[in-house]
Amino acid sequence: MIEIDNLTKTYDGRAVVDDVTLSIPSREIVAIVGTSGSGKTTLLRMINRLVEPSAGTIRIDGRDTHDLPPYELRRQIGYAIQGHGLFPHRDVAHNIGTVPRLLGWDKHRISARVDELLEMFQLEPDQYRSRMPHELSGGQKQRVGVARALAAGPLVLLMDEPFGALDPIIRAKAQADLVEIQQRLGTTVVLVTHDMDEAIRLGDRIAVMSEGKVLQYASPEEIIANPVDDFVEAMLGSGDKAFRLLTLDHVSSVVEPGEAEGPPVDTHLSLRDAYSEMLWSQRPVLPVTRDGVPVGIVTRAALEKRAARPQ
Ligand SMILES: Nc1ncnc2c1ncn2[C@@H]1O[C@H](COP(=O)(O)OP(=O)(O)O)[C@@H](O)[C@H]1O
Ligand SMILES: [Mg+2]
Repeated sequence: MIEIDNLTKTYDGRAVVDDVTLSIPSREIVAIVGTSGSGKTTLLRMINRLVEPSAGTIRIDGRDTHDLPPYELRRQIGYAIQGHGLFPHRDVAHNIGTVPRLLGWDKHRISARVDELLEMFQLEPDQYRSRMPHELSGGQKQRVGVARALAAGPLVLLMDEPFGALDPIIRAKAQADLVEIQQRLGTTVVLVTHDMDEAIRLGDRIAVMSEGKVLQYASPEEIIANPVDDFVEAMLGSGDKAFRLLTLDHVSSVVEPGEAEGPPVDTHLSLRDAYSEMLWSQRPVLPVTRDGVPVGIVTRAALEKRAARPQ
């Protein structure tokens, strides 16, 4: 658990992070969302002390981060940034092995870990470990950047707009991979984004920031249903609420017994995508499969119920 208490950062007398209090549970993804200049990066960087707080405290699993040397803290906390931040003149293996080397792991352990991470991120080790960053696509660089951040098995991963430079299709894949890997490893992730869609898709909780303050800190469902003020409402885009609710869950959550005609949807598909398919193919009921095996149906009524304002 990361406990942030009354945290403030001032530059030239101006509070760019202003008395923020947040409690981030272990093994969850918390998305910090806000417009440019709202203080997201500064807040994130205070967690690993790349920026020193002006006031307030941060405790990770009960330990005040102020009591640890910053270098040690940074070895224990993964950090991935937009544009990946890879060393351009070092190959992939060297990049990923950065923190394990600092920690004094032996060569064999480092190279085994590098290969394990490459496989986890679907990069064939024999093909990729000796490549230079300029020999990778944008999406591959991004994956290597996150692999590097995870190399020493940190309990906490900080991510600053990690998907910002990716095109939409690769981005969706990278987001899905992050959730899968986060769940597998049990990492606590604090992710900064200016994109509310991304925050809703990834966050177990969302902190909405404006002018250094956290305006609302709640689950995506709660933020969509009850935005605390006009700013949060504007961040949500008022016309999309029903569809945003549908992005929060998968077809597996609405399957009913039965059979239906036409091409099926998979249980992993989002409710939003299933609804879109219904509209597109003009079918009020779709057959559902899991790994190709029929498991029932999804009805328009069920989806519309899930799109309604939560009570
Ligand atoms: N080192 C610094 N010195 C002075 N002002 C800074 C510094 N770093 C950030 N700021 C200011 O703090 C505010 C918040 O910045 P930042 O945390 O980067 O916002 P965000 O990540 O939400 O875009 C901005 O107005 C920025 O100009
Ligand atoms: Mg920023």
